Amino acid sequence: QKQGFDWYMRKEIFEQPTAVADTLLGRLNDRGELVLDELRISPETLRRINKVVIVACGTSFYAGLVAKYAIEHWTRIPCEVELASEFRYRDPIVDPMTLVVTISQSGETADTLMAIRHAREQHAKVVAICNTNGATIPRESDAVIYTHAGPEIGVASTKGFTTQLVACYLLGLYLAQVRGMKYGDEIAALLGELERMPAAIQGLLDNSQPVLDLAAELADATSVLFLGRHVGYPVALEGALKLKELAYIHAEGFAAGELKHGPIALVSDELPVFVIVPPRGRDQLRDKVISNIAEVRARGARTIVLAEAGDEEARAVASNFIELPKVSTLLQPLLAVVPLQLFACELATVKGHDVDQPRNLAKSVTVE
Ligand code: F6R
Repeated sequence: QKQGFDWYMRKEIFEQPTAVADTLLGRLNDRGELVLDELRISPETLRRINKVVIVACGTSFYAGLVAKYAIEHWTRIPCEVELASEFRYRDPIVDPMTLVVTISQSGETADTLMAIRHAREQHAKVVAICNTNGATIPRESDAVIYTHAGPEIGVASTKGFTTQLVACYLLGLYLAQVRGMKYGDEIAALLGELERMPAAIQGLLDNSQPVLDLAAELADATSVLFLGRHVGYPVALEGALKLKELAYIHAEGFAAGELKHGPIALVSDELPVFVIVPPRGRDQLRDKVISNIAEVRARGARTIVLAEAGDEEARAVASNFIELPKVSTLLQPLLAVVPLQLFACELATVKGHDVDQPRNLAKSVTVE
């Protein structure tokens, strides 16, 4: 069943081109409009909502953090993202004008389920993004957008995450379309770019040997830092989470702009630092991230830089350079996360850990 792979997780990482393509399938009608047939909430209702609140846990929460950038940028609707475990305990402000979006691969996570029950008691509309047909969370939601990743067996989520990102982008674009914020050509251009992502992910997978070599080299690291800005920040958080849960290495993700507000004190020649650089065209952000890399390098850290192919300024400050295909900023997480998944999988393999069943973890967390 692992089809020649050593772990389900590795197989699932390699299934991402298909999983992403399947989640995008059939989204454009013959009038060039984005269709989300399964979203059984009327356009009128979607035009009335004045706030989006995303609730999720773990990796799914990080997908939600990425979604906030896309949804706010495309729709201008304020969007909050909250850990499901925190949500109902702070008496959150939700009402019938709030669209609550819940993201759960398994559809059974207790914290997330409790959060949506609370939201529905306040009469909010709830949309679930879920990978499991008929699971409890989609059953208890007003509507559901299924990701088509296929079963995810490895405890650590990989294709679950990338397909959640796709579903979030689709939802954001659909809201923009329904509310007249984006029109045919723009939607078609963004969908066209999404449709090129499976091939781009495949390219990263085909050229992943340097990432695997790096994992072997860094097997003795005791702590690893991940830095990113904008949508690269949630990717940094996800890279750190994968490393913690699989390789049992202390890892932290930070917003690169926060470096000088504290984390830089950790930097030394013992600390590998991964940095996700925004694509060119986002030069203000990109320049700042590149100077952050120079700062950590000046303190002796090994810098592993993920940046757009041909970004020579990023390459100049990199101890190791991981090339990402050209993509617009909002979609970059779909690509940038892939080498980080592989790195964690490989490092855990090198250390002799059980990648599919990390210690102390369960695939679905059905208690609060
Ligand atoms: C990390 C991971 C977990 C899950 C989290 C939510 O690799 O898999 O952090 O993302 O437990 O699970 P779902 O998405 O099933 O609600």
